[in-house]
Amino acid sequence: MQTITTKKALDEFVSNCKSENKTIGFVPTMGALHNGHLTLVRRAVAENDICIVSVFVNPTQFNDKNDLANYPRTLEADAALLTEAGCACVFAPTPDEMYNADEMTNRFEFDFGGLDQVMEGKFRPGHFNGVVQVVSKLFRLVRPDRAYFGEKDFQQLAIIRRMTKLMNFPIEIVGCPIVREESGLALSSRNALLTPEQRQTAVHISAVLQESTQFALETSVGELHDAVVAAINAKEGLETEYFDIVDGDTLQSIERWDDAEYVVGCVTVYCGKIRLIDNIRYK
Ligand code: PAJ
Repeated sequence: MQTITTKKALDEFVSNCKSENKTIGFVPTMGALHNGHLTLVRRAVAENDICIVSVFVNPTQFNDKNDLANYPRTLEADAALLTEAGCACVFAPTPDEMYNADEMTNRFEFDFGGLDQVMEGKFRPGHFNGVVQVVSKLFRLVRPDRAYFGEKDFQQLAIIRRMTKLMNFPIEIVGCPIVREESGLALSSRNALLTPEQRQTAVHISAVLQESTQFALETSVGELHDAVVAAINAKEGLETEYFDIVDGDTLQSIERWDDAEYVVGCVTVYCGKIRLIDNIRYK
């Protein structure tokens, strides 16, 4: 596997692949790789001639400086895992390689069509501007045939689909199911920041979501919402930031189960100071 840190070297690598008519599967990540990421990578390896993974902790999508500073960075271990998974090239640039001073300070503008006004967008202002900024830049550099994203970041996936359409990228966006620990806890790079006790506590989030599927559709949307929030908050050490039951396509909250064909419950919970997200499909 090649490790590339400059845009120029990446462009040469990609141009070579293109001249040999090789298809490219791309997995953008922020590193601290776990089996969730690696599931995306293995799929990209299987479905394309060449797999490229980016590892870049993107400063412009962090609205909290501490969160950015504390984000785990484990490039050496990541490279070993990627080699084993069959990845051909990891692109790991510095922020200066990716952005000029203007791009670092000015918010990247994009017409989200309202997708950024809810859930993560409401609680992390500017977050998705940074995500679209970096992913559109990476798409232009990597020029993939397919790009792989996890359903764990449900809102991000919807926004990337919209961005791809609006910016006319000739790229197939492949959404991949959430990968969980045996306990049910959704794998996340942030899990590495939890103490062993917090890890046990965090399992409660997916357990409550899973249990709620048994009552969904029989209970009103409002009652189910309140029951989920109460059940999560009842566990000492957990505090729900939001739980929204939404139309899976528009991300707008629904009031009745009949309001949408595809319904997903999206939650963000603080486990101590660590912010965890998860979601579950109801319909
Ligand atoms: P990161 O959090 O590193 O996630 C990279 C990709 O892995 C995302 O598409 C995410 O949804 C997926 N992923 C993470 N945990 C997963 C799990 N348990 N199951 C399935 N997929 C999972 O998301 C980002 O980075 C960044 O915002 C990025 C798109 C790279 C832009 O900076």
